[in-house]
Amino acid sequence: MAREFIVPGQIITGSGALDMAEASIGQLGKKAMIVTDKVMIQLGNCEKVENALKNQGVDYTIYSEIVGEPTDVMIANGLKQYKEEGCDFLVALGGGSPIDSMKAIGSLVENGGSISDYMGKVIDVPMPPMVAIPTTAGTGSEATQFTIITDTEKDVKMLLKGKVLMPDLAVIDPQFTMTAPPKITAATGLDALCHAVEAYTSRKAQTLSDTFALSAVKRIFRYLAPAFHDGRNEEARIQMSVAALEAGIAFNNASVTLIHGMSRPIGALFHVAHGLSNAMLLKVCLTYALPGAYDRFAELGRAVGAASAEDSDQKASEKFLAATIALVEELETPTLEQYGIDRDTFFGVIEKMAHDAMESGSPQNTKREITQADVEKMYKELW
Ligand SMILES: [Fe+2]
Repeated sequence: MAREFIVPGQIITGSGALDMAEASIGQLGKKAMIVTDKVMIQLGNCEKVENALKNQGVDYTIYSEIVGEPTDVMIANGLKQYKEEGCDFLVALGGGSPIDSMKAIGSLVENGGSISDYMGKVIDVPMPPMVAIPTTAGTGSEATQFTIITDTEKDVKMLLKGKVLMPDLAVIDPQFTMTAPPKITAATGLDALCHAVEAYTSRKAQTLSDTFALSAVKRIFRYLAPAFHDGRNEEARIQMSVAALEAGIAFNNASVTLIHGMSRPIGALFHVAHGLSNAMLLKVCLTYALPGAYDRFAELGRAVGAASAEDSDQKASEKFLAATIALVEELETPTLEQYGIDRDTFFGVIEKMAHDAMESGSPQNTKREITQADVEKMYKELW
């Protein structure tokens, strides 16, 4: 079967990536809106992007109202500023939230309306040029045609999709990831691991996505723990920034599966950061998925050195699962309970969460048949 494989128009990676990207950014328009958050301004990261724009004689305005994960309200406010300031292109600097926000703002520039109008539809509208500069090694949003925005009226994390959401330019400069604290490094790195593992074991996997997924998984197993324990480990940071990009490219072309499907409702209702809720779900979800794809999980187990060629596929899969659980523990991932979520409140919304998870379509990409009842059972197993 023929398959399409989509990547950003231009990707620049490695130390000095922003410097190299400057000229390309300068050609995208006359006035940029930088979509970011306050932390990026405090850390001086935003100033580096401002300088790059100044060097190219490009005017700009900064929209730094992205707090936590993006909502329809933040998008509406961002759109307002973009129009009032007469911008003609977008630059996102930050983790997945500013990048996702940039995509959502961009999709409303020409056609107007509210981002919630696009729930369940493919976004196919004219977009301004977009530059994504990730500062965490995880979300992969710089290389995807997805954006996740919370509908604050319905308490639903909307997964919105469209080829036009793919950034024109992705700048993966490890200087920005150096500033991520250990908790963020862990959560975002495990998010990237989920992207790669889910992509590799998805029903929608394809040859080219496999290449990127496998490479990402290997890199993450080798470098995530060192980056977590020592944020100044430059080699680990560089490798993780590449791994996150690879994982983003992989899931953009193979979709995510069970973990992400179940993670979004937890994020929407309990405001657990995306990477963290994925990490909390890894064990339960992979345990469920394993019997549907022993061959694929076995390949991952052998690739990361957790299993050998002599192990049967089932054995090698189980070793991969054990190695993944060990990594999640080493990165000090809290449980829902440790995170402070009330058990009764959680159990009270399991049915809604399972419904919303299935509605997103992601769990059904898992290579094991799955029903809403299975998803409900897994939510209960988190306690
Ligand atoms: Fe993710």
